[in-house]
Amino acid sequence: MELKIYKDKNEVAQHFSAYFSELFKDKSTFHVALSGGSTPKVVFDVLAADFSSKIDWTKIHFYWGDERCVPPSDDESNYKMTMEHLFSKIDVPKENIHRILGEKEPLLEAMRYGGLLEKNLPSQNGTPQFDLVILGMGDDGHTASIFPHEIELWDSSRNCEVAVHPDSGQKRVTITGKIINAASQVAFLVTGSGKAEKVKAIIEKQEDFKKYPASLVSPDSGNLIWFLDGDAATGIS
Ligand code: 6PG
Repeated sequence: MELKIYKDKNEVAQHFSAYFSELFKDKSTFHVALSGGSTPKVVFDVLAADFSSKIDWTKIHFYWGDERCVPPSDDESNYKMTMEHLFSKIDVPKENIHRILGEKEPLLEAMRYGGLLEKNLPSQNGTPQFDLVILGMGDDGHTASIFPHEIELWDSSRNCEVAVHPDSGQKRVTITGKIINAASQVAFLVTGSGKAEKVKAIIEKQEDFKKYPASLVSPDSGNLIWFLDGDAATGIS
């Protein structure tokens, strides 16, 4: 595991984008799972503005680590956010965008998407393997859409599960721990002072840290890098 700590969200975005633009130089196809939330908005803006000419977007297939069960036109949609901050600014073939269909019946969509990963991705000991999974972490220590109150979803034998947001009750389709930990590269993008307590607990393996789903991210054979800003890294010794 590697920690990269930067001044602020924009510096995180710049350094992550430089890392991302190097990842697939020797690859003909690259499968990446995107995350939602506010941090990726800045990252996608930087990728599109400062790195798009350095990236052969035709090589990259875009998936999501989680999606809210809402239509793609809904402001809650991670797909809509990505369209606004990235896809509307770069030339990526439509067939390279594999969104989770938030408007469909959640359990059926979780099964469908899990099957798509089986079909499209190379296998790592029988599990679909992403080249890169991008994750965020909530203030409660959730990642993707696996929340502490449903942490058992992490160990599901399925590739995708249906989760429920603890506050809003909103349903979400999420990839599970087996998919995350099979990835070649996992990058956490975590910014803001609201994350500092859980980041410290997880990085320093404080008592009960395993109750936070983000603590379970530990690639079987891949690399894990935390991209943090100073606020999120406060208190890490
Ligand atoms: C989502 C994300 C979620 C997010 C965290 C952190 O769909 O909301 O996948 O896991 O990454 O909540 O979000 P911020 O980047 O806003 O801190």
